Amino acid sequence: MSSNFSHFATLKDGIAGKDARVLTVGLGYVGLPMALTVHEVGFDTTGLDINAERVARINAGEQVISYFAENRIDDAVKSGKFRATSEASAIAGADIILICVPTPLTAAREPDMRYVISAAETIADWLRPGQLVVLESTVWPGATANVLQPILERGGLRAGSDFFLGFSPEREDPGNASHTTRTIPKVVGADDKQSRDLLEMFYSTIVTQAVPVSSSATAEAVKLAENSFRTVNIALVNEMKVAMDAMGVDVWEVVKAAATKPFGYMPFYPGPGIGGDCIPVSPVYLSWRARDVGSETPIIDLARFNNEGAPEALATRIRTDLSRHDGVDVNGARILILGIAYKKDVEDTRESPALALLKKLEQMGADVDYHDPFFPVMPLTRDHPDLANRLSVPLDAGTLEGYDAVIVTTDHTAVDYGLVAAASKRVFDTRNAFDGRGIAIDRARLIKI
Ligand SMILES: NC(=O)c1ccc[n+]([C@@H]2O[C@H](COP(=O)([O-])OP(=O)(O)OC[C@H]3O[C@@H](n4cnc5c(N)ncnc54)[C@H](O)[C@@H]3O)[C@@H](O)[C@H]2O)c1
Repeated sequence: MSSNFSHFATLKDGIAGKDARVLTVGLGYVGLPMALTVHEVGFDTTGLDINAERVARINAGEQVISYFAENRIDDAVKSGKFRATSEASAIAGADIILICVPTPLTAAREPDMRYVISAAETIADWLRPGQLVVLESTVWPGATANVLQPILERGGLRAGSDFFLGFSPEREDPGNASHTTRTIPKVVGADDKQSRDLLEMFYSTIVTQAVPVSSSATAEAVKLAENSFRTVNIALVNEMKVAMDAMGVDVWEVVKAAATKPFGYMPFYPGPGIGGDCIPVSPVYLSWRARDVGSETPIIDLARFNNEGAPEALATRIRTDLSRHDGVDVNGARILILGIAYKKDVEDTRESPALALLKKLEQMGADVDYHDPFFPVMPLTRDHPDLANRLSVPLDAGTLEGYDAVIVTTDHTAVDYGLVAAASKRVFDTRNAFDGRGIAIDRARLIKI
């Protein structure tokens, strides 16, 4: 029996009997839900993260992700079959290693693969025959084979014979209660049959459906296709918003009615721009790789350009409307940004358009505060480090009355929109927060933008 067959058979049995030990590298918005789900399915699971403070909080059972069910982390830790660690030596004890580290953009807005590379180097130091390594971070098509594999093979072990390697993109939708890690089908791809089979077997036990594709590059491309589709459609609906507004038509009403068509249409909703670690980033990975191989992506590039420019376009529109409707000069105006997270009900400000809008308004001379129930203190972000440590103002009638304008940038559920409607002099609503909830508001004071 060849050694790779016996490795394959051992891992196959370990997956079927749930005896295989699983390790996730990275315990963020993607790695932690995945690690907990793997544990809940019955595997002994370890989470490895370089952030020692996060590791300690997880081991103490703290609710580090607010939308998790209460005690989810605590129950896992107390079971004795789930733990977090900063010790890279834990890699040696794992049979299956899932890499869930960040893949942001560099300052030049190009793929930043440094976390994947450093995680790969750490794994390479501990890699042993028979392990299955799966990259889950969003990367450009070809990265598993061309970046990860050569690093893992540095010590002499070969992918597809000594160890197994593949890619499975994350489709986590933070805060979405209808689609959890377990119920979202997972695409799996690898460049040899045994790795592909192992990936399919493993993920079939974790999620409701594993969807095998022929190569790691195909699986990588699936993720970029999904997010580029969203990028283009968000740019499209924001373009329609402006055009329809000029025609006196409410785009929100249009989208709601169009969504009743049972085929050929999928609703996308306007907003202040795009945010998070995914939608603004993935299309860049696709267009960067396209250029690298001599191709082009002009539609995606235009959509990105429009999305990235959305906060500035909003700031300009707010300046014009404040002056025209209220005789208020933005220079010196007091403005409240309501919601700094990039989407509702999550405590995540990465690439948040609300922060970009805040900065634009300040550059125009406005005096800007924010309120966000998830952020009593403004966190340190990669894109706006200078905003860190500002404080969220309380949301009460007296405070609201003191602003020339309140801008709803993120419509968190916990906010009292009735109060905002009653006490604000001028409301700019980028999220349909009032009409969408059926909250009465004086139309003369509301501008949906
Ligand atoms: N957040 C989402 O909604 C989402 C959805 C789908 C896909 N993704 C993709 O998933 C990947 C991970 O994203 P995330 O949102 O979980 O990121 P995150 O920033 O929330 O978490 C990443 C974690 O990895 C840790 N880390 C970094 N380098 C490490 C290393 N060398 N070893 C161990 N730990 C390390 C960090 O300390 C952090 O805790 C990215 O590629 C992202 O694009 C994210």
